[in-house]
Amino acid sequence: MTSALYPPTVTPASRPLPLLPFLGRFVRNPLRAIPQAVYDEPIVTYGKKRTLVAWVTDPALVENILVKNADRFPKTRLDRRVLRPVVGDGLLTAQGDSWRWQRKIASPPFRHSELLSYVPAMVDAADRCVMQWRRRPGAAFTTDVEADMTEATFNVVARTILAGISEADGDTIKRSGRAYLDPISWEVAAALLQYPETYWHPGKTRMKRSAAELRAIVKGLVARRHRDQSESNDLVARMLAAKDPETGQPMSDEIIADNLATFLFAGHETTAKALTWALYILARAPEWQERLRDEITATVGNGPITAETINKLPTLSRVLKEVMRLYPPAPVMTRVNADGIEIGGKELQNSTLIVMPIFIIHRHRALWEDPNRFDPDRFLPEKEARYPRTQFMPFGYGQRICIGSSFAILEATAILATLLRNARFEWDGKLAPEPVSRVTLRPKGGMPLIVRPL
Ligand code: HEM
Repeated sequence: MTSALYPPTVTPASRPLPLLPFLGRFVRNPLRAIPQAVYDEPIVTYGKKRTLVAWVTDPALVENILVKNADRFPKTRLDRRVLRPVVGDGLLTAQGDSWRWQRKIASPPFRHSELLSYVPAMVDAADRCVMQWRRRPGAAFTTDVEADMTEATFNVVARTILAGISEADGDTIKRSGRAYLDPISWEVAAALLQYPETYWHPGKTRMKRSAAELRAIVKGLVARRHRDQSESNDLVARMLAAKDPETGQPMSDEIIADNLATFLFAGHETTAKALTWALYILARAPEWQERLRDEITATVGNGPITAETINKLPTLSRVLKEVMRLYPPAPVMTRVNADGIEIGGKELQNSTLIVMPIFIIHRHRALWEDPNRFDPDRFLPEKEARYPRTQFMPFGYGQRICIGSSFAILEATAILATLLRNARFEWDGKLAPEPVSRVTLRPKGGMPLIVRPL
């Protein structure tokens, strides 16, 4: 009999806080500013004279926002202001016809048949990580698996959907991406207060410098790909060849650069966080780690991990889902109530910010039994079939659902299976990092785990 595992979570504000204390908590960790009631109620509003924010957690209300009335709940100016310096008007931030066109152009590399061809690159990225671990002295050592997983997932994107990124550019992209996100809650807080974009806050200069570095790299990549018309059929090649269906115009270099930044960033940070939290949970739940290792050995034996074998790891799939329930790599989604329509019996204004905190939906007390407990059996097929699609939604839902969801699941499975058959992960008995929202869900202070290569 193994004891129940309650891995670290966030302590919410016990009640809705006045604006200044709210912002004080928000800049440290936006999840800490959200009051306890949001874990209990279907919808909670914030603001005295006017409703500034509505936190929506009820699956039926979320579906209403993301599907039935999606056109009346567009993406927010806040999202655009905060992310635009890096990802411009690419797929993540675009709206209307421009979004529709970009989504169409970007979809083919994410078709099932294409995805399967990426599996060797995914396994190879994990193998490289293991090789580096094996070079380290000693039978066991401590390593920051957050950094290692970022490296591995970046390698996958750079060798599949976006070919031809040099190692030096890759290093700058990873470093600048992180430096941009570190102070991001200050920028969100300034945007919530409607301060101008020029408003200075701690970390602002670093954000500007990082954004400039990233933009210079993606623009250089687009220029290089214009000169070098290689045989590659990756996303950049597709965007370079695309013609607007109405005007016949090619996609502008600016939008191509926006999408390069979007996919470089969205395509590796999130999956890296899923893997990081998965390794943490498995280090704390050694019996599950052994079960997964047994499943991998029984299915794959000594042979290579392939597209076929990946689909035959049901326990690994359940564990990954449970990890993404407890630690959704993109913990918060936002929209704006453009028409000021009523939701869940609450009168809202036409500028009310709608926050769908995936982190809290996944731990809501009305939706999950013993929500903070790690229990992969919640995702046994007969149980999973009963959850509404918006109760467990690490990839969002509706027309703007993550374009890379199948890519990410395949990648996380391939990498995790490769790591587990080559190494054991151990917990030092103390580490319990708080999950902090910085667009992605980071472990506060990194994720140093003990690794014992097998
Ligand atoms: C575990 C990994 C991932 C998670 C949890 C995740 C989560 C999400 C979520 C929640 C959204 C919806 C945002 C919204 O509607 O406001 C989204 C959108 C998006 N994701 Fe992912 N993502 C992951 C991996 C990936 C990968 C691997 C790629 C690309 C290779 C990617 C590219 C995108 C893009 C471009 C969008 C915008 C789609 C659109 O608006 O049409 N994501 N993702």
